Amino acid sequence: MAKVKTSYFCQKCGYNSPKWLGRCPSCGEWNTLVEEVISSGEPEKGKWRNTGSAGAKPRLLSQISRAEKYRIITEDEEFNRVLGGGLVPGSLTLIGGEPGIGKSTLMLQLALSLTDYNVLYISGEESEQQIKMRAERLPVHSERCYVLTETSTDLIFKHIELIEPDVVVIDSIQTLVSPLLDSGAGSVSQVKECTAEIMRFAKESDVPVVLIGHITKEGSLAGPKVLEHMVDTVLQFEGDRFMTYRILRTIKNRFGNASELGIYEMLSNGLRQVSNPSEILISEKTENLSGVAIAAMIEGNRPLQIEIQSLVSTANYGTPQRSSNGFDLRRLQMLLAVLEKRGGFRLGTQDVFLNVAGGLKVDDPAIDLAVCCSLVSSYEDAVIPHSVCFSAEVGLGGEVRPVSRIEARISEAAKLGFEKIYVSRNNLKGINTDHFNIAIRGVGKLEEVFAELF
Ligand code: TYD
Ligand code: MG
Repeated sequence: MAKVKTSYFCQKCGYNSPKWLGRCPSCGEWNTLVEEVISSGEPEKGKWRNTGSAGAKPRLLSQISRAEKYRIITEDEEFNRVLGGGLVPGSLTLIGGEPGIGKSTLMLQLALSLTDYNVLYISGEESEQQIKMRAERLPVHSERCYVLTETSTDLIFKHIELIEPDVVVIDSIQTLVSPLLDSGAGSVSQVKECTAEIMRFAKESDVPVVLIGHITKEGSLAGPKVLEHMVDTVLQFEGDRFMTYRILRTIKNRFGNASELGIYEMLSNGLRQVSNPSEILISEKTENLSGVAIAAMIEGNRPLQIEIQSLVSTANYGTPQRSSNGFDLRRLQMLLAVLEKRGGFRLGTQDVFLNVAGGLKVDDPAIDLAVCCSLVSSYEDAVIPHSVCFSAEVGLGGEVRPVSRIEARISEAAKLGFEKIYVSRNNLKGINTDHFNIAIRGVGKLEEVFAELF
Protein backbone atom coordinates (compact mmCIF):
# COMPACT_ATOMS: atom_id res chain seq x y z
CA MET A 1 0.00 0.00 0.00
CA ALA A 2 1.39 3.37 -0.92
CA LYS A 3 2.03 5.38 2.20
CA VAL A 4 1.50 9.07 2.63
CA LYS A 5 4.33 11.55 2.73
CA THR A 6 5.04 12.98 6.12
CA SER A 7 7.38 15.53 7.51
CA TYR A 8 8.27 16.80 10.96
CA PHE A 9 7.15 20.24 12.03
CA CYS A 10 8.14 22.16 15.13
CA GLN A 11 4.97 22.97 17.04
CA LYS A 12 6.52 26.17 18.37
CA CYS A 13 8.05 27.87 15.34
CA GLY A 14 6.96 25.78 12.37
CA TYR A 15 10.46 24.59 11.40
CA ASN A 16 10.27 21.71 8.92
CA SER A 17 12.59 18.72 8.97
CA PRO A 18 12.39 15.42 7.05
CA LYS A 19 13.69 13.55 10.11
CA TRP A 20 12.70 13.60 13.74
CA LEU A 21 14.99 15.70 15.91
CA GLY A 22 15.01 15.99 19.67
CA ARG A 23 15.69 19.69 19.58
CA CYS A 24 14.45 22.20 17.05
CA PRO A 25 17.50 23.80 15.38
CA SER A 26 15.53 26.93 14.66
CA CYS A 27 14.01 27.92 17.99
CA GLY A 28 15.97 25.61 20.29
CA GLU A 29 12.93 24.04 21.98
CA TRP A 30 13.11 20.39 22.98
CA ASN A 31 10.63 17.73 21.92
CA THR A 32 8.49 19.97 19.79
CA LEU A 33 8.89 18.17 16.44
CA VAL A 34 5.77 16.31 15.45
CA GLU A 35 5.13 14.19 12.38
CA GLU A 36 2.47 15.59 10.09
CA VAL A 37 0.99 14.42 6.81
CA ILE A 38 1.89 16.63 3.89
CA SER A 39 0.30 14.69 1.05
CA SER A 40 -1.86 11.64 1.15
CA GLY A 41 -0.55 8.80 -1.04
CA GLU A 42 -3.94 7.46 -1.97
CA PRO A 43 -6.62 10.03 -2.46
CA GLU A 44 -9.29 7.35 -2.94
CA LYS A 45 -9.26 5.80 0.53
CA GLY A 46 -12.64 5.41 2.05
CA LYS A 47 -15.65 7.56 1.91
CA TRP A 48 -14.86 10.02 4.67
CA ARG A 49 -11.42 11.15 3.67
CA ASN A 50 -10.70 14.55 2.32
CA THR A 51 -11.11 13.99 -1.39
CA GLY A 52 -10.86 17.65 -2.17
CA SER A 53 -14.48 17.79 -3.26
CA ALA A 54 -15.41 21.11 -4.80
CA GLY A 55 -18.91 20.84 -3.38
CA ALA A 56 -19.32 23.99 -1.36
CA LYS A 57 -20.05 27.34 -2.99
CA PRO A 58 -20.06 30.73 -1.31
CA ARG A 59 -23.58 31.76 -0.36
CA LEU A 60 -25.08 34.83 1.16
CA LEU A 61 -25.54 34.40 4.90
CA SER A 62 -29.00 35.94 4.66
CA GLN A 63 -30.07 33.25 2.18
CA ILE A 64 -29.06 30.30 4.31
CA SER A 65 -32.12 28.81 5.94
CA ARG A 66 -31.76 28.32 9.64
CA ALA A 67 -33.24 24.82 9.83
CA GLU A 68 -32.83 24.51 13.58
CA LYS A 69 -31.78 20.92 13.93
CA TYR A 70 -33.48 18.78 16.48
CA ARG A 71 -31.26 17.61 19.27
CA ILE A 72 -31.11 14.10 20.59
CA ILE A 73 -32.33 14.51 24.14
CA THR A 74 -30.81 11.78 26.29
CA GLU A 75 -32.24 10.28 29.45
CA ASP A 76 -29.34 11.80 31.31
CA GLU A 77 -30.38 15.29 32.42
CA GLU A 78 -26.88 16.18 33.57
CA PHE A 79 -25.38 15.20 30.22
CA ASN A 80 -28.05 17.20 28.36
CA ARG A 81 -27.28 20.19 30.49
CA VAL A 82 -23.53 20.22 29.87
CA LEU A 83 -24.17 19.84 26.13
CA GLY A 84 -26.54 22.79 26.20
CA GLY A 85 -29.68 20.71 25.71
CA GLY A 86 -28.88 17.37 24.10
CA LEU A 87 -26.65 15.94 21.37
CA VAL A 88 -26.54 18.05 18.22
CA PRO A 89 -26.66 16.00 14.98
CA GLY A 90 -23.30 15.93 13.23
CA SER A 91 -21.46 17.20 16.29
CA LEU A 92 -18.19 15.83 17.58
CA THR A 93 -17.90 15.76 21.36
CA LEU A 94 -14.74 14.92 23.26
CA ILE A 95 -14.87 13.68 26.84
CA GLY A 96 -11.58 13.82 28.68
CA GLY A 97 -10.67 12.49 32.08
CA GLU A 98 -8.10 10.60 34.08
CA PRO A 99 -7.97 6.81 33.87
CA GLY A 100 -10.50 5.09 36.11
CA ILE A 101 -12.66 8.13 36.64
CA GLY A 102 -15.64 6.54 34.87
CA LYS A 103 -15.61 7.76 31.26
CA SER A 104 -16.37 4.34 29.79
CA THR A 105 -19.11 3.76 32.34
CA LEU A 106 -20.71 7.13 31.60
CA MET A 107 -20.70 6.53 27.85
CA LEU A 108 -21.90 2.94 28.00
CA GLN A 109 -24.70 4.03 30.29
CA LEU A 110 -25.57 6.77 27.82
CA ALA A 111 -25.47 4.33 24.89
CA LEU A 112 -27.77 1.93 26.69
CA SER A 113 -30.21 4.61 27.73
CA LEU A 114 -30.80 5.81 24.15
CA THR A 115 -33.35 3.08 23.53
CA ASP A 116 -34.96 4.88 20.58
CA TYR A 117 -31.75 5.11 18.55
CA ASN A 118 -29.26 2.72 16.99
CA VAL A 119 -26.09 3.31 18.92
CA LEU A 120 -22.69 1.97 17.93
CA TYR A 121 -20.26 1.69 20.85
CA ILE A 122 -16.75 1.21 19.50
CA SER A 123 -14.11 0.17 21.98
CA GLY A 124 -10.41 -0.22 21.40
CA GLU A 125 -9.76 -0.60 25.10
CA GLU A 126 -11.90 -3.48 26.23
CA SER A 127 -13.03 -6.82 24.84
CA GLU A 128 -16.66 -7.58 24.05
CA GLN A 129 -16.86 -9.72 27.20
CA GLN A 130 -15.56 -6.92 29.38
CA ILE A 131 -18.11 -4.52 27.93
CA LYS A 132 -20.85 -7.08 28.48
CA MET A 133 -19.82 -7.49 32.12
CA ARG A 134 -19.85 -3.76 32.63
CA ALA A 135 -23.24 -3.45 30.94
CA GLU A 136 -24.70 -6.07 33.26
CA ARG A 137 -23.86 -3.91 36.26
CA LEU A 138 -25.74 -0.97 34.86
CA PRO A 139 -29.44 -0.37 35.49
CA VAL A 140 -30.19 0.46 31.83
CA HIS A 141 -30.84 -1.92 28.96
CA SER A 142 -31.20 -1.37 25.23
CA GLU A 143 -31.98 -3.66 22.31
CA ARG A 144 -30.42 -1.25 19.85
CA CYS A 145 -26.88 -0.87 21.11
CA TYR A 146 -24.17 -2.46 18.94
CA VAL A 147 -20.68 -3.11 20.27
CA LEU A 148 -17.61 -3.15 18.05
CA THR A 149 -14.06 -3.82 19.20
CA GLU A 150 -11.98 -2.42 16.39
CA THR A 151 -9.25 0.20 16.13
CA SER A 152 -8.62 0.72 12.44
CA THR A 153 -10.60 3.69 11.14
CA ASP A 154 -10.96 2.02 7.72
CA LEU A 155 -12.78 -0.97 9.15
CA ILE A 156 -14.75 1.17 11.56
CA PHE A 157 -16.18 3.23 8.70
CA LYS A 158 -17.09 0.02 6.83
CA HIS A 159 -19.09 -1.19 9.82
CA ILE A 160 -20.69 2.20 10.21
CA GLU A 161 -21.91 2.01 6.61
CA LEU A 162 -23.45 -1.38 7.31
CA ILE A 163 -25.14 -0.59 10.60
CA GLU A 164 -26.05 3.03 9.89
CA PRO A 165 -26.05 4.08 13.55
CA ASP A 166 -27.79 7.23 14.81
CA VAL A 167 -25.15 7.85 17.46
CA VAL A 168 -21.51 6.69 17.60
CA VAL A 169 -19.37 6.44 20.75
CA ILE A 170 -15.63 5.80 20.46
CA ASP A 171 -13.59 4.63 23.45
CA SER A 172 -10.93 6.00 23.04
CA ILE A 173 -9.40 8.26 20.40
CA GLN A 174 -5.91 7.25 21.55
CA THR A 175 -6.49 3.62 20.51
CA LEU A 176 -7.54 4.39 16.94
CA VAL A 177 -5.18 4.00 14.01
CA SER A 178 -5.53 5.26 10.50
CA PRO A 179 -3.90 2.93 7.95
CA LEU A 180 -2.70 6.03 6.14
CA LEU A 181 0.00 6.63 8.72
CA ASP A 182 2.84 4.47 9.95
CA SER A 183 3.06 5.87 13.45
CA GLY A 184 1.60 3.97 16.37
CA ALA A 185 -1.77 4.44 18.04
CA GLY A 186 -1.87 7.40 20.40
CA SER A 187 0.86 9.35 18.61
CA VAL A 188 0.18 12.96 17.83
CA SER A 189 -0.20 12.41 14.10
CA GLN A 190 -2.52 9.41 14.51
CA VAL A 191 -4.74 11.19 16.99
CA LYS A 192 -4.99 14.19 14.68
CA GLU A 193 -5.63 12.17 11.53
CA CYS A 194 -8.23 9.91 13.16
CA THR A 195 -10.05 12.87 14.66
CA ALA A 196 -10.07 14.61 11.30
CA GLU A 197 -11.53 11.51 9.61
CA ILE A 198 -14.22 11.17 12.27
CA MET A 199 -14.98 14.86 12.05
CA ARG A 200 -15.55 14.57 8.31
CA PHE A 201 -17.76 11.56 8.83
CA ALA A 202 -19.84 13.35 11.47
CA LYS A 203 -20.31 16.48 9.37
CA GLU A 204 -21.21 14.59 6.21
CA SER A 205 -23.53 12.05 7.75
CA ASP A 206 -25.08 14.22 10.50
CA VAL A 207 -24.42 11.47 13.01
CA PRO A 208 -23.26 12.77 16.41
CA VAL A 209 -20.03 11.19 17.59
CA VAL A 210 -18.72 11.15 21.15
CA LEU A 211 -15.00 10.53 21.58
CA ILE A 212 -13.37 9.51 24.84
CA GLY A 213 -9.89 10.91 25.37
CA HIS A 214 -7.24 10.31 27.99
CA ILE A 215 -5.62 13.00 30.01
CA THR A 216 -1.88 13.34 30.42
CA LYS A 217 -0.02 13.77 33.67
CA GLU A 218 -0.08 17.53 33.19
CA GLY A 219 -3.85 17.45 33.08
CA SER A 220 -4.40 18.34 29.43
CA LEU A 221 -6.04 16.04 26.93
CA ALA A 222 -3.42 13.66 25.64
CA GLY A 223 -2.43 14.19 22.08
CA PRO A 224 -2.07 17.66 20.78
CA LYS A 225 -4.02 20.68 21.83
CA VAL A 226 -5.31 20.72 18.23
CA LEU A 227 -7.79 18.05 19.23
CA GLU A 228 -9.63 20.63 21.30
CA HIS A 229 -9.77 23.01 18.36
CA MET A 230 -11.08 20.39 15.98
CA VAL A 231 -14.05 19.12 17.95
CA ASP A 232 -17.26 21.01 18.65
CA THR A 233 -17.56 20.32 22.33
CA VAL A 234 -15.01 19.42 24.98
CA LEU A 235 -16.20 17.99 28.26
CA GLN A 236 -14.07 17.06 31.20
CA PHE A 237 -14.98 14.32 33.64
CA GLU A 238 -13.28 14.94 36.92
CA GLY A 239 -13.38 14.14 40.58
CA ASP A 240 -11.39 12.34 43.18
CA ARG A 241 -11.09 8.65 42.41
CA PHE A 242 -11.40 7.92 46.11
CA MET A 243 -14.60 9.88 46.52
CA THR A 244 -17.83 8.91 44.88
CA TYR A 245 -18.77 12.24 43.33
CA ARG A 246 -17.89 13.04 39.74
CA ILE A 247 -18.20 16.33 37.92
CA LEU A 248 -18.76 16.65 34.19
CA ARG A 249 -17.67 20.11 33.14
CA THR A 250 -17.96 21.92 29.81
CA ILE A 251 -14.64 23.32 28.63
CA LYS A 252 -15.75 24.37 25.17
CA ASN A 253 -19.13 24.24 23.48
CA ARG A 254 -20.07 25.51 20.05
CA PHE A 255 -23.75 24.92 20.79
CA GLY A 256 -24.23 26.23 24.29
CA ASN A 257 -22.90 27.71 27.47
CA ALA A 258 -19.27 26.80 28.10
CA SER A 259 -19.33 26.76 31.87
CA GLU A 260 -21.97 24.18 32.65
CA LEU A 261 -21.67 21.52 35.26
CA GLY A 262 -23.18 18.06 35.70
CA ILE A 263 -22.81 16.09 38.91
CA TYR A 264 -22.89 12.30 39.30
CA GLU A 265 -22.34 9.79 42.02
CA MET A 266 -20.46 6.58 41.21
CA LEU A 267 -22.35 3.67 42.72
CA SER A 268 -21.78 -0.06 42.40
CA ASN A 269 -24.40 -0.10 39.64
CA GLY A 270 -23.21 2.80 37.56
CA LEU A 271 -23.45 6.55 37.74
CA ARG A 272 -26.39 8.21 39.43
CA GLN A 273 -27.36 11.73 38.38
CA VAL A 274 -27.30 14.18 41.24
CA SER A 275 -30.03 16.62 40.33
CA ASN A 276 -29.91 18.57 43.56
CA PRO A 277 -26.17 19.08 44.05
CA SER A 278 -26.56 21.20 47.14
CA GLU A 279 -27.47 17.98 48.95
CA ILE A 280 -23.88 16.77 48.58
CA LEU A 281 -22.12 20.11 48.77
CA ILE A 282 -23.51 20.87 52.19
CA SER A 283 -22.51 18.38 54.83
CA GLU A 284 -24.75 16.95 57.54
CA LYS A 285 -26.55 19.64 59.46
CA THR A 286 -26.45 17.76 62.73
CA GLU A 287 -23.49 19.29 64.48
CA ASN A 288 -22.98 22.90 65.31
CA LEU A 289 -19.47 23.62 64.11
CA SER A 290 -17.71 26.91 64.05
CA GLY A 291 -15.93 27.84 60.83
CA VAL A 292 -18.71 26.69 58.51
CA ALA A 293 -20.49 29.12 56.17
CA ILE A 294 -22.71 28.51 53.16
CA ALA A 295 -22.26 30.46 49.94
CA ALA A 296 -24.87 30.89 47.23
CA MET A 297 -22.82 30.63 44.06
CA ILE A 298 -23.47 30.14 40.35
CA GLU A 299 -21.58 27.75 38.13
CA GLY A 300 -22.50 28.15 34.47
CA ASN A 301 -26.23 28.59 34.53
CA ARG A 302 -26.69 26.69 37.69
CA PRO A 303 -27.13 28.13 41.17
CA LEU A 304 -25.45 26.01 43.84
CA GLN A 305 -25.23 26.25 47.59
CA ILE A 306 -21.78 25.34 48.72
CA GLU A 307 -20.21 24.85 52.10
CA ILE A 308 -17.00 26.64 53.05
CA GLN A 309 -15.12 25.29 56.06
CA SER A 310 -12.19 26.88 57.73
CA LEU A 311 -9.94 26.28 60.64
CA VAL A 312 -8.04 29.15 62.21
CA SER A 313 -5.68 28.19 65.00
CA THR A 314 -2.65 29.73 66.70
CA ALA A 315 0.57 28.98 64.84
CA ASN A 316 3.02 27.33 67.18
CA TYR A 317 5.99 27.04 64.87
CA GLY A 318 7.63 29.66 62.69
CA THR A 319 5.69 31.14 59.79
CA PRO A 320 1.92 30.66 60.00
CA GLN A 321 0.56 28.37 57.32
CA ARG A 322 -2.12 29.19 54.81
CA SER A 323 -3.63 26.33 52.92
CA SER A 324 -6.66 26.21 50.69
CA ASN A 325 -8.55 23.43 48.99
CA GLY A 326 -10.79 24.38 46.09
CA PHE A 327 -10.41 28.14 46.57
CA ASP A 328 -7.70 30.41 45.15
CA LEU A 329 -4.92 30.78 47.71
CA ARG A 330 -4.08 34.35 46.68
CA ARG A 331 -7.69 35.36 47.07
CA LEU A 332 -7.67 33.80 50.53
CA GLN A 333 -4.56 35.76 51.46
CA MET A 334 -6.18 38.94 50.21
CA LEU A 335 -9.31 38.33 52.28
CA LEU A 336 -7.17 37.60 55.35
CA ALA A 337 -5.40 40.93 54.86
CA VAL A 338 -8.75 42.71 54.56
CA LEU A 339 -9.98 41.08 57.78
CA GLU A 340 -6.77 42.03 59.56
CA LYS A 341 -6.67 45.63 58.37
CA ARG A 342 -10.35 46.54 58.26
CA GLY A 343 -11.82 44.22 60.83
CA GLY A 344 -9.02 44.26 63.37
CA PHE A 345 -8.73 40.48 63.60
CA ARG A 346 -5.18 39.39 64.48
CA LEU A 347 -4.93 36.67 61.85
CA GLY A 348 -1.25 37.21 61.08
CA THR A 349 -0.23 34.87 63.88
CA GLN A 350 -2.70 32.14 62.98
CA ASP A 351 -2.56 29.05 60.81
CA VAL A 352 -5.43 29.17 58.33
CA PHE A 353 -6.90 26.17 56.51
CA LEU A 354 -9.78 26.58 54.12
CA ASN A 355 -11.76 23.83 52.44
CA VAL A 356 -14.57 23.82 49.91
CA ALA A 357 -16.78 20.83 50.65
CA GLY A 358 -17.37 18.18 48.01
CA GLY A 359 -13.98 18.60 46.32
CA LEU A 360 -15.30 21.32 44.02
CA LYS A 361 -13.02 24.04 42.69
CA VAL A 362 -14.76 27.40 42.79
CA ASP A 363 -13.93 30.80 41.41
CA ASP A 364 -17.20 32.71 41.64
CA PRO A 365 -16.41 36.00 43.48
CA ALA A 366 -19.76 35.71 45.28
CA ILE A 367 -18.25 33.25 47.77
CA ASP A 368 -15.95 35.92 49.26
CA LEU A 369 -18.41 36.89 51.94
CA ALA A 370 -18.95 33.28 53.01
CA VAL A 371 -15.17 32.78 53.16
CA CYS A 372 -14.75 35.85 55.41
CA CYS A 373 -17.59 34.77 57.68
CA SER A 374 -16.26 31.23 57.87
CA LEU A 375 -12.80 32.52 58.86
CA VAL A 376 -14.13 34.85 61.54
CA SER A 377 -16.48 32.16 62.79
CA SER A 378 -13.56 29.82 63.35
CA TYR A 379 -11.35 32.54 64.82
CA GLU A 380 -14.03 33.62 67.29
CA ASP A 381 -15.25 30.05 67.73
CA ALA A 382 -18.79 31.27 67.15
CA VAL A 383 -21.23 29.13 65.17
CA ILE A 384 -23.08 30.64 62.20
CA PRO A 385 -26.72 29.45 62.20
CA HIS A 386 -27.46 26.80 59.57
CA SER A 387 -30.33 28.79 58.20
CA VAL A 388 -28.06 31.60 56.98
CA CYS A 389 -26.19 31.87 53.69
CA PHE A 390 -24.11 34.51 51.91
CA SER A 391 -23.67 35.83 48.40
CA ALA A 392 -21.41 38.82 47.82
CA GLU A 393 -17.94 39.84 46.78
CA VAL A 394 -15.63 41.54 49.27
CA GLY A 395 -13.48 44.48 48.20
CA LEU A 396 -10.12 45.63 49.54
CA GLY A 397 -11.78 48.25 51.72
CA GLY A 398 -13.93 45.64 53.45
CA GLU A 399 -16.93 46.75 51.43
CA VAL A 400 -19.53 44.18 50.44
CA ARG A 401 -19.98 44.34 46.69
CA PRO A 402 -22.77 43.24 44.37
CA VAL A 403 -22.61 40.08 42.25
CA SER A 404 -24.31 38.99 39.04
CA ARG A 405 -27.68 37.24 38.83
CA ILE A 406 -28.58 37.81 42.45
CA GLU A 407 -32.22 36.82 41.96
CA ALA A 408 -31.28 33.31 40.82
CA ARG A 409 -29.06 32.94 43.87
CA ILE A 410 -31.71 34.18 46.28
CA SER A 411 -34.45 31.98 44.89
CA GLU A 412 -32.23 28.88 45.02
CA ALA A 413 -31.40 29.64 48.66
CA ALA A 414 -35.10 30.08 49.43
CA LYS A 415 -35.93 26.82 47.63
CA LEU A 416 -33.44 24.93 49.77
CA GLY A 417 -35.00 26.21 52.97
CA PHE A 418 -32.55 28.88 54.05
CA GLU A 419 -34.14 31.59 56.17
CA LYS A 420 -31.75 34.47 55.66
CA ILE A 421 -29.30 35.52 52.98
CA TYR A 422 -26.70 38.27 53.24
CA VAL A 423 -26.10 40.17 50.02
CA SER A 424 -24.69 43.53 49.04
CA ARG A 425 -26.98 46.49 49.61
CA ASN A 426 -26.21 47.69 46.09
CA ASN A 427 -27.49 44.43 44.70
CA LEU A 428 -31.01 45.11 45.89
CA LYS A 429 -31.64 48.26 43.88
CA GLY A 430 -34.52 47.72 41.53
CA ILE A 431 -35.22 44.21 42.75
CA ASN A 432 -38.56 43.34 44.24
CA THR A 433 -37.62 41.38 47.35
CA ASP A 434 -41.15 40.71 48.58
CA HIS A 435 -41.89 37.63 46.54
CA PHE A 436 -38.93 35.65 47.87
CA ASN A 437 -39.70 33.33 50.72
CA ILE A 438 -36.50 34.26 52.57
CA ALA A 439 -35.25 37.22 54.61
CA ILE A 440 -32.84 39.27 52.51
CA ARG A 441 -30.34 41.41 54.35
CA GLY A 442 -28.50 43.99 52.25
CA VAL A 443 -25.25 45.18 53.82
CA GLY A 444 -22.57 47.66 52.82
CA LYS A 445 -19.63 46.72 55.04
CA LEU A 446 -18.20 43.53 56.54
CA GLU A 447 -18.57 44.98 60.04
CA GLU A 448 -22.34 45.06 59.70
CA VAL A 449 -22.43 41.31 58.99
CA PHE A 450 -20.05 40.50 61.85
CA ALA A 451 -21.95 42.71 64.29
CA GLU A 452 -25.12 40.72 63.61
CA LEU A 453 -23.56 37.26 63.58
CA PHE A 454 -20.85 37.25 66.24
P1 TYD B 1 -14.25 3.24 33.91
O1 TYD B 1 -15.53 3.68 33.30
O2 TYD B 1 -13.61 2.05 33.33
O3 TYD B 1 -13.21 4.44 33.87
P2 TYD B 1 -12.43 5.08 32.63
O4 TYD B 1 -13.06 4.62 31.37
O5 TYD B 1 -12.55 6.56 32.83
O6 TYD B 1 -11.02 4.64 32.73
O7 TYD B 1 -14.59 2.96 35.44
C1 TYD B 1 -13.84 3.35 36.52
C2 TYD B 1 -14.22 2.82 37.86
O8 TYD B 1 -15.57 2.80 38.13
C3 TYD B 1 -13.72 1.43 38.11
O9 TYD B 1 -12.72 1.52 39.11
C4 TYD B 1 -14.90 0.66 38.63
C5 TYD B 1 -15.89 1.69 38.95
N1 TYD B 1 -17.28 1.29 38.70
C6 TYD B 1 -18.23 1.44 39.71
O10 TYD B 1 -17.91 1.87 40.83
N2 TYD B 1 -19.54 1.09 39.46
C7 TYD B 1 -19.93 0.61 38.24
O11 TYD B 1 -21.11 0.34 38.04
C8 TYD B 1 -18.95 0.48 37.21
C9 TYD B 1 -19.33 -0.05 35.85
C10 TYD B 1 -17.65 0.83 37.49
MG1 MG C 1 -12.25 3.39 29.93
